[in-house]
Amino acid sequence: MSRPSWTVPDLGVGVGLRVPHYRTVIEERPAIDFFEVISENFMVDGGKPLYHLDRVLESYPVIQHGVSLNIGGPEPPNQAYLQRLKHLVRRVRPAWLSDHFCWTGTSGNNVHDLLPLPYTRQVVDLLVERAKRIQDYLEVPFALENTSSYMAYSSSEMSEWQFVSEVCERADIGLMFDVNNVYVSAYNHGFDAYEFIRNVPHERVVQIHLAGHTNLGKYIIDTHNGNVIEPVWDLYRGAIELCGPVSTLIEWDDEIPEFAVLQALAERARGVRNQGLERRAARQADPRAPSFALGQSLIPTPVEASTHAAGWQQGGPREHGAAAIEAAP
Ligand SMILES: [Fe+2]
Repeated sequence: MSRPSWTVPDLGVGVGLRVPHYRTVIEERPAIDFFEVISENFMVDGGKPLYHLDRVLESYPVIQHGVSLNIGGPEPPNQAYLQRLKHLVRRVRPAWLSDHFCWTGTSGNNVHDLLPLPYTRQVVDLLVERAKRIQDYLEVPFALENTSSYMAYSSSEMSEWQFVSEVCERADIGLMFDVNNVYVSAYNHGFDAYEFIRNVPHERVVQIHLAGHTNLGKYIIDTHNGNVIEPVWDLYRGAIELCGPVSTLIEWDDEIPEFAVLQALAERARGVRNQGLERRAARQADPRAPSFALGQSLIPTPVEASTHAAGWQQGGPREHGAAAIEAAP
């Protein structure tokens, strides 16, 4: 595995900045290490979105996360989109910026969903070329996130973790590692979640995402609501043992609770992160010490019916770009 040519700081544990919490965040400045914003919500010329963003920037580090780059689409990423993104980067000055391993539309149409890619050599080559160019253009460490998926392509030539690793290494970009997405896709496709965790380039993980999901029995939908489930906490503990002190973010995008609920989740993440770091140090001192990740296995077993099936409605993307709704300051 090649070492990255860039470095990013460990920002600690943060949460995604969402409209219902603007007032709390700006007026009460709760103790949280950093925020992540959806870039598309702030790629505007002015008005309330930028007013709120500037207030948050006064008190917290902010990271940008996008949903509409369409890096795997049939056409190259839109240059006007990239220009507006770079404009926002100059305002926010994020330590890194991320989008997803996906495609989101064609011919100028955005389906507002993160569609999976075929894991082929041809698509690896395409993403490597585009990711390099995007990182050079934006002049900030760039990362792509592994997504949740509900279908696979018969044309795929490699596993998802091989695909993700090869793109990150060859393009010299970062991995935005979503541990909940690993669990969701392991459940939906029947692979070993720990095999995924073990086989990504750990030194390229710039950030970890944690979220809840909705289990419909035969499959899981990545709804980003509810608590992080215990097997995902376990995967996170193992990922930290392998990656070291990586910035971690709680994502909650549907049925958003009070900010205090997210703060409590962030504190739990901090505790689990510390457990992973302690185990990492113990294994560095003695490689025979037990591991949270090595030798572990989890192939989730889908069930016909689930007690968790209620509560999910057909809707839009799990991470909403271009949100027009703004809360009063
Ligand atoms: Fe995520």
